[in-house]
Amino acid sequence: MKNRLYSRLAYKIIGQMRSGAIPIGERIPSIRQMSKQEKVSISTVMAAYNLLEDQGWVEVRPKSGYYVRRQTREPLAVPNASEVQSPPVIATTSQLVMAVQRDVFKRHTISFSRATPALDFPIIRHVQQAYTRLSRTRKHLGFGYSSAEGHFALRQQIARHAVYAGVSVSPDSVVTTVGTLNAIGICVRVLTKPGDVVAVESPCYYGILQLIEANDLKAIEIPAHPETGMSLEALKLAMEQWPLKAVLTVSSFSNPLGCSIPDDRKKELVNLLEQYQVPLIEDDVYGDLYFGDRRTSAVKAFDTQGLVFLCSSLSKTIDPQLRVGWILAGRHYEEILHRKFVDMSSAPILPELVCADILGQGVYERHLRQAREAYWQRYLRLVDLVSEHFPRVTKISRPQGGIVAWLELPRNVDTTELYHYSRDRDVLIAPGEMFSFNKQYRHCFRINYAPGWTPEREDAIRRLGRWVTERVAPYSD
Ligand SMILES: Cc1ncc(COP(=O)(O)O)c(C=O)c1O
Repeated sequence: MKNRLYSRLAYKIIGQMRSGAIPIGERIPSIRQMSKQEKVSISTVMAAYNLLEDQGWVEVRPKSGYYVRRQTREPLAVPNASEVQSPPVIATTSQLVMAVQRDVFKRHTISFSRATPALDFPIIRHVQQAYTRLSRTRKHLGFGYSSAEGHFALRQQIARHAVYAGVSVSPDSVVTTVGTLNAIGICVRVLTKPGDVVAVESPCYYGILQLIEANDLKAIEIPAHPETGMSLEALKLAMEQWPLKAVLTVSSFSNPLGCSIPDDRKKELVNLLEQYQVPLIEDDVYGDLYFGDRRTSAVKAFDTQGLVFLCSSLSKTIDPQLRVGWILAGRHYEEILHRKFVDMSSAPILPELVCADILGQGVYERHLRQAREAYWQRYLRLVDLVSEHFPRVTKISRPQGGIVAWLELPRNVDTTELYHYSRDRDVLIAPGEMFSFNKQYRHCFRINYAPGWTPEREDAIRRLGRWVTERVAPYSD
């Protein structure tokens, strides 16, 4: 618990430094003051300050105290808002996306490319035990089809858990799915028809882009700020200009930037949706993996007209193998249920019962606390390694939660080429090209920091840094 406290305190202070509330060069409160102010022990504050010092956020001046240091890394630049004016596009990134998916299964590779959670937490044992117990003690085979909406016990747990995101729903408005992407796909097919225009954030999780491509839709990419997410100003412009049939966003801890739309902006977003009567497909798959003090609200928490379709799963918090996801349906509940029925009749019941069992125990909340702490520490280690081994021009995102970070290199560096080069040397990254239809991120790439750092993974980052340096060097003066 103490462990968690000092790291939370450090996170809070970093937030204040990033926002400019504590400017560069300013002294932060003394250990004693901070201990009083935050009502924590002296040793907790000392541990937090040591962490800040190790991470280069503060420096100690003898007999004077701790001072905010200039960060060696600037936050990512904000993408150009004018890009929203470009016409909607249909794209073809599927070959590269499928190549990256396949490469993960090659032996001997060190993968940073897929957004897979760490799979060595004790919860995996609980899941295994639940599978064994439930497959023995209940009748799941020889049962026939289950209901299209999904098992009631699971829907009940999902509704109970949604309260943490500020969402109050009845189990009867929950439809279970086979993961988040399946949930989003169902919503997309209900809300659009081929040729329609939808808005996505940019950069955007490539799974969503693939869905758009596969459903013959056109996408407008709305710039996302690296800290506050999708630009509402740009979205409003797009709504004025195009007959949008849906907006799609990963509103909390996006993939790949790790940014969140602040709660007051989420409310503003709902106002905008209401004004233009455009539905939102909200991907909340990382919502429980926050680094701060508390969970941010889902956009759905502010929705009173049923315009928001919240999609999520246990793929990032436990294991994508479960393939258990859900939709908190808005207005089109019956159509969503029908679409799921047409797609698959019903989802397999055993994984749903296992997840209901896990969500019903305190073990899930305990696991989330452990996972959040581990991911925050692992992100800090990634920053350390990148600072040490990558050229100084490298920029790295500041995720507020989740499991991925976004790195930006000078524009001349082609990360698709880097991906092929490093793949041939058994290190996998997710090239920026996959995250946009406009090819605007060919100098960026995404890294997953969820698995624990091992000497092999650290060495892979060191080698990656060397390959990046070789590509940056010819252009630096
Ligand atoms: C933002 C986002 N949404 C959805 C998914 C897919 O989730 P699921 O495995 O539950 O389909 C991912 C996986 O990388 C993701 O990053």
